[in-house]
Amino acid sequence: MTASTSPLPTDAELRVKVNLGPRSYDVRVVSDQPEKFGAFAREALYATWAGHTCRRVLVVADENVVPLQAPFANALKAVGLSVTSVVIPSGECSKSLDRAVDLYDELVKLRADRHTAILALGGGVVGDLAGFVAATYARGLPLLMVPTTLLAQVDSSVGGKVGVNHPRCKNIIGAFHQPVGVWIDTAALDNLPTRELQCGLAEVVKYGVILDAGFFHYLEEHVELILSKDPREIRHIIARSCELKAGVVSRDEREETGLRAVLNYGHTIAHAIESVAGYGGAFQHGEAVSVGMVAEAKLAERLGWLAPGLADQIAYLLERFGLPTSAPGFDSEALLDAMSRDKKNQKGKTRFVLPRRIGQVELTDAPSDLDIRAALAIL
Ligand code: GLY
Repeated sequence: MTASTSPLPTDAELRVKVNLGPRSYDVRVVSDQPEKFGAFAREALYATWAGHTCRRVLVVADENVVPLQAPFANALKAVGLSVTSVVIPSGECSKSLDRAVDLYDELVKLRADRHTAILALGGGVVGDLAGFVAATYARGLPLLMVPTTLLAQVDSSVGGKVGVNHPRCKNIIGAFHQPVGVWIDTAALDNLPTRELQCGLAEVVKYGVILDAGFFHYLEEHVELILSKDPREIRHIIARSCELKAGVVSRDEREETGLRAVLNYGHTIAHAIESVAGYGGAFQHGEAVSVGMVAEAKLAERLGWLAPGLADQIAYLLERFGLPTSAPGFDSEALLDAMSRDKKNQKGKTRFVLPRRIGQVELTDAPSDLDIRAALAIL
């Protein structure tokens, strides 16, 4: 698949392979085809150690997607799997050890063993929580992901990081546990609030900036079609985003070489904004990432890394997608303080991923506090 052409057939399903040796898996991107999910799930499960012995699936759905439960459960039943469903409250508060224990209770009640699979149906919270339970129950159950928000489809469902929050520290309790398959149906976006679609688009733009200038320009040329949720365009941008993420993850699965860190472009400042505003506060994650990408591009311009004008080009695309590119009213010192506490820092220096040009970024701790303050001043 190339970044610059849109897929032609209206109903084509797109496939992305995440190459991780024995943990490799497929991402399938379709439009309104839940009935095909059963065969995909069966095949994905056959490929695991659970193989032909997997008979049962615990479907963990968030309350926003209850209407999707029946079609996906029916697709699994049609291929001979028995299904038990649980619904968890939507929202970040469900990413907790308490909710994980509820799911362990459910599995114990079912006398689940390692031949039971878990299906995460919903947004990023469900994927992270159900994925964490899949990683830890009986030392690992096969995990199927059916992400239903654009953010989860292009980001959290691929990559294997799963986890829950500690009351005082986000995402600190977790594991690497790759899914056995990811099924993305763009029809799930039909009822997604515009604001959530826009949050997913922030991460889509991020992939263009960090890895693929052609994709960035493709997005510039297709803003209206994408915002109208044209299924072909949406399938294309989801598949390309997953393909770009998969390329990074397959070269640095466990974030050991620094390569995977490129995915954190915009996130150093975004995490500070979220931490100061309060998670689930005025800024949703994708909105904070949007602001963070612009501020970090300005920082790269200040360091002479990025040609003048490119930060504005990035900001303009984000604005056309309806995303914020500034965050007035934030106290720069509070943001600086939050950044200094970021767990990804090393030797007391704040680490950033900064663009060298559109399509190429670099991990650095070069910016001084003076540079960072200047970048924050534009917020
Ligand atoms: N689950 C998200 C990631 O691994 O990046």
